[in-house]
Amino acid sequence: MMYLFGASGHGKVVKEVLDSKNVKVDAFIDDKPLKKEQLGVSVVSSSQIGSIINDQVIISIGNNLIRKDLSKKITANFSIAKHKEATVSKTVEIKGGTVIMAGAVINAETKIGKHCIINSNAVVEHDCILGDYVHISPNATITGNTIIGEGTHVGTGATVIPNIVIGKWVTIGAGAVIIKDIPDYAVVVGNPGKIIKYKKENE
Ligand SMILES: CC(C)(COP(=O)(O)OP(=O)(O)OC[C@H]1O[C@@H](n2cnc3c(N)ncnc32)[C@H](O)[C@@H]1OP(=O)(O)O)[C@@H](O)C(=O)NCCC(=O)NCCS
Repeated sequence: MMYLFGASGHGKVVKEVLDSKNVKVDAFIDDKPLKKEQLGVSVVSSSQIGSIINDQVIISIGNNLIRKDLSKKITANFSIAKHKEATVSKTVEIKGGTVIMAGAVINAETKIGKHCIINSNAVVEHDCILGDYVHISPNATITGNTIIGEGTHVGTGATVIPNIVIGKWVTIGAGAVIIKDIPDYAVVVGNPGKIIKYKKENE
C-alpha cells in the first residue's frame, strides 16, 4: 500500500506527483483530520490503518521540523516521489521520503538527504549537498557546490550563488539572494541577504 502521512495542501501536491507516475495513493493518514476525503482519496487516522511497517509512506507535511519529528516516530518504507516532469541527473543521490515536484531540475552529482522537498520549478545545480528535511521552495535556485544543512528552508524565488555553505535550520526569505555563508538557525532576507534574527533550536 502507498500512504501519504498528512492530509495537508502539500499532501495534495505530493498525491499529484505520484499520479504523474501512475502510482496509486491508498489513503492519507492524518491524526487530526479536517476532512474524510481529499482529491478522491480517503483520509484515515493511524489507529484505523494499523501497522504500516511493510507499506510505502511519504510524510506529506511542509513544515520541516514536524516532518522530522514524525519520521522518527513512524516505521515504514519511505518512498521517493519524483514528478515525471522533473529533470534529475542519473548521477544524483536521493534518500527516502524526498519529494521532487514538477519542473524541478537537479543536476550532476548532487546529493539530497531524506524527507526533503524540492518544490515546483526549483533548481539545484551540480555538486550540491542538501541535508535531511531541507525544503527548496518553488522557483528557488541553488547554484553549484552549495552545501545546505539539515532542516533549512529556502523561500520561494530565492537564489544562492555558488560555493556557499548554509547551516542547519536556517530560514531564507522569499526572493533573498545569498552571497555569503549563513550560520545555523539564522533567518535571512533581502538582496544581498542579511540576517534579521536567529531561531531557537525547536522553532
Ligand atoms: C523570511 C520570513 C520567514 C520572515 O517571516 P517573519 O519571521 O514572520 O518575519 P516578519 O514578517 O516579522 O518580517 C521581519 C522583517 O523582515 C522583512 N521581511 C520579511 N520577509 C522578507 C522577505 N522575503 N524579503 C525582504 N524582507 C522581508 C519584513 O518586512 C520585516 O521588516 P521590518 O522589521 O523592517 O518591518 C518570511 O517573510 C518569508 O519570506 N518566508 C518565505 C515563505 C515561502 O517562501 N514559503 C514557501 C512555501 S512553498
